[in-house]
Amino acid sequence: MTEQKISIHGVWGSRWTFILAATGSAVGLGNIWKFPYITGENGGGAFVLVYLFCIALIGIPIMMAEVLLGRQGRQSPINTMRELVRETGTHKSWKLLGWVGAIAGFLILTYYSVIAGWSLNYVYEMGSGTFSGKDGQQVGSIFDELLANPKQLLFWHSLFMVMVTVVVAQGVIKGLEKAVRILMPLLFLLLILLVGYALSTDSFGRGFAFLFHVDFSKMTWSAALTALGHAFFTLSLGMGAIMVYGSYMPKKASIGGTVLMVAALDTLVALVAGLAIFPIVFSNGLAPGAGPGLMFITLPHAFGNMGFGQLFGTLFFVLVTFAAWSSAISLIEPAVAWVVERFKVNRGLATVMLCFLAWFVGLGTVFSFNLWAEMTLAGFTVFDGLDFLTANIMLPLSGLFIALYVGWVLPQQRVKSELALSQSVLYQLWRFVLRFLAPLAVLIVFMVPLYEKFAG
Ligand code: PHE
Repeated sequence: MTEQKISIHGVWGSRWTFILAATGSAVGLGNIWKFPYITGENGGGAFVLVYLFCIALIGIPIMMAEVLLGRQGRQSPINTMRELVRETGTHKSWKLLGWVGAIAGFLILTYYSVIAGWSLNYVYEMGSGTFSGKDGQQVGSIFDELLANPKQLLFWHSLFMVMVTVVVAQGVIKGLEKAVRILMPLLFLLLILLVGYALSTDSFGRGFAFLFHVDFSKMTWSAALTALGHAFFTLSLGMGAIMVYGSYMPKKASIGGTVLMVAALDTLVALVAGLAIFPIVFSNGLAPGAGPGLMFITLPHAFGNMGFGQLFGTLFFVLVTFAAWSSAISLIEPAVAWVVERFKVNRGLATVMLCFLAWFVGLGTVFSFNLWAEMTLAGFTVFDGLDFLTANIMLPLSGLFIALYVGWVLPQQRVKSELALSQSVLYQLWRFVLRFLAPLAVLIVFMVPLYEKFAG
């Protein structure tokens, strides 16, 4: 009986714990590091608008579907899909969904940890006052020096991976709730402080306009694909993280409201980060399209030139590291939960093995910025390639299939039994989006850039 299923990995204390954990997963480097830099690379306003559409029209409905699947299965995503396929007699190939997700999460972790390592390095640099009084150029070269130094990158990457291993080995449910409850609001406060600083520069208006002035002439199909992929990435969709957290969610908690809350918080953090970063970019004559270093150049510069900057700056990077930590945990959790179920090994062993493997594969990203920087395939370094493969291909594809599975394949009573609003207009709307709109939108955004690439 589905009603009686509970997960062997535990159940959240309440709906709030789920909200906190899912927000912990969603809010991470994607919001503070990736969103601003891809917005900068893709021309600003129009890109932001497309991204917001993707969140609202595709991301939120698919997130509901993913939570629903997790709560139906109450196991790791791989076994949840296997169970559902068995119980409902649907085609075997749907089991692939769980697999693609777990592999995508694992691959993302391999490079996510390297970037989180940058953030750890900045805790140290901020704390030792490296940026005090430095101009934009100097802050930029400090960043370049970091990237050019594989030993240093390796050290911080390893440290971060150890941090992830320690938490996941003990079980996700314990520490996470407390950490998220305190640290997320603090991070948000510091971002607001940075917006305050941005307001004091002479370029707040320009930064604001860059983010919100919509000019579609700057938009391309490949930018739309990046926006779509990022909507999945930032909401932690399409790789089982939300499904596995959903599987720990109490039966009575409402899915729709919960998901809306998580998505709204996530989007808010990204926009506030953008508002903090772009005015600083323009007031220092930096290029918005500077790439992955954007946050690591602009913000240290701001901290280096404000009162108590050393203190706030250190705290800021501590909090960014925490946000990355709570996301990284959810990247590996689906794989760990599966190894525990499948091989009946204990959680500690499963975690150490998988994290070690992820650390090892992560070396490819470490070297992407120095020793292997020239080693590219179709213009991609290892890091670029992994980022593109996971965020722009695997996540949207698996999201598409989640929508199709819940919209078309999963028996209706199961879907209805999970949602409180099964008679209402909202339910009809959600179902329509899941069956038609989301799949179509993903397909179009997905196919056109590929078509352009290969036909043009
Ligand atoms: N959502 C996280 C972020 O924005 C990254 C992530 C992706 C985490 C997928 C889990 C799953 O940083």
